Order: sequence, then structure tokens, then C-alpha cells
Amino acid sequence: MDLPNHIAIIMDGNGRWAKSRGLSRVKGHEAGAEVVDKIIRKSAKIGLKRLTLYAFSSENWKRPKYEIVFLIKLLNRYLIKKEPEIMKNNIKFTTIGQTDKFPRKTQELIKKLTTKSASNTGLTLCLALNYGARSEIIDAVKKVSRALIDRKIKIDDINENSIREYFYDREMPDPDLLIRTGGEYRLSNFLLYQSAYTELYITPVYWPDFTVEEFHSAIEEFSRRERRFGAVDER
Ligand code: FPP
Repeated sequence: MDLPNHIAIIMDGNGRWAKSRGLSRVKGHEAGAEVVDKIIRKSAKIGLKRLTLYAFSSENWKRPKYEIVFLIKLLNRYLIKKEPEIMKNNIKFTTIGQTDKFPRKTQELIKKLTTKSASNTGLTLCLALNYGARSEIIDAVKKVSRALIDRKIKIDDINENSIREYFYDREMPDPDLLIRTGGEYRLSNFLLYQSAYTELYITPVYWPDFTVEEFHSAIEEFSRRERRFGAVDER
């Protein structure tokens, strides 16, 4: 089976999952965090190179305060609790997004895990935290403008690949497969530049109900797709 190099996931449906069970929305996030665990473990096991998870979007600040506080606590707990497992499984932890907007404690935990796992060579696990693709592009435009003003680059040095140097993670390859749970057919400001040719897999299943088996089916479906990147297949 053709394994994608990079899988990105929009983990949607936590709130609806909870509501359908008469639970508070945050219970959905708690259940969702357990699925995050299973998918990371499976990804490491099958030898996936990169997994990017949309854990907190730049629009999520518009949620009720108690939900934001809960999500940040869940993230803090996760960053502390998972460190041994991340190290044991040779996982390199990274983030994309404006993480400087999180509380200091969260920023420190992110920094600690990123630094500690930096030379790991297995799966690269990237959490999108306070991430928005439009902000990423605008931030890149600002950085590239600064480099132009400082005469570090010339206008003709800017091209489809060199612009990536100014994105949040300059080493991130485009996702080959983007999975969205919760049944909505949109990208919700996630990896807009990088997903130009990404294969999409959308499932109605809410994130807390997403299984390792369905993850495997999504990869299987990906391996059957014909990717032409705008060209024609002359076989
Ligand atoms: C979308 O569901 C999900 C989120 C905004 C948060 C994602 C967080 C997790 C999966 C758990 C925590 C993750 C880590 C890495 C510890 P929603 O609330 O928008 O669902 P809805 O569309 O049904 O309301």
C-alpha cells in the first residue's frame, strides 16, 4: 500500500458527539484527546513520517471562556503526560501557529517538548495551535518584506518553494492526505497554501468516534487515488 508521507487531520465533531450523549461539550474534547493518542500511536507504528493535527484554531478563541480554559488545560496535561511516550517512540514534536498567545506555562511546556524531542528521527508530530492559514500567509508576507527591505533577498528569489521558508514550519512538506471528521466539507483556514494538491477524506464520524480502523481505510483509499498534480496520465 502506498503510504502517504504526511497526513493532516481536522478533528471536528467533539461538541456534537458530547451533545448527542447529553454531555457537556468539554467531555467531547476529553474523549477526543484519547483518540488523538490512538492515532499518534498507530501513525508511529506504521512508519508515517508526519502527522499534523488541528488542535486549536485561531478562531477557537471565540468559544466560551470555560471551554477555552478546558482546552488549554487538556493541552498542558497532554504535553506533560505524553513526554515519556514521545521520547520512547522516537517522535519529534513540533507546532505551527501563533503559540505566543497561549499562557506562559503552555508556551514553556511546548518549548520543553520541542527542544527535548528535536533530534528524534521517527514520526514528526505537529500540533496546529492558535493556527490560521491566512495568518500564516500574512506573517510570511511580513517576514519576506523584512528580508527584502534588509536586502537579504531579491524579488525574483521569491517563488512557490522559497516562500515556505517563511511559514511557521519551514520543513513541513505538503500534506498528501487531509482527513476531516464531523462531516463538514470545508478547510476551515487549515493549511490553505500547503493543501493545493492534497487528497481529501471527509467522514461524517465525529472525532471521538474515529477509529484506528477508519484511519487505516482512509490511507487505503488514498493509495487507490490517482494523483496527477494538474498533469495528464499518459500511461
Ligand atoms: C473540534 O470539535 C475540535 C476542537 C476545536 C479541539 C480539538 C481538540 C481535541 C481533539 C482534544 C485535545 C487535543 C490534544 C492534542 C490534547 P468541535 O468542538 O468544533 O465540535 P463541533 O463542531 O461538534 O462543535
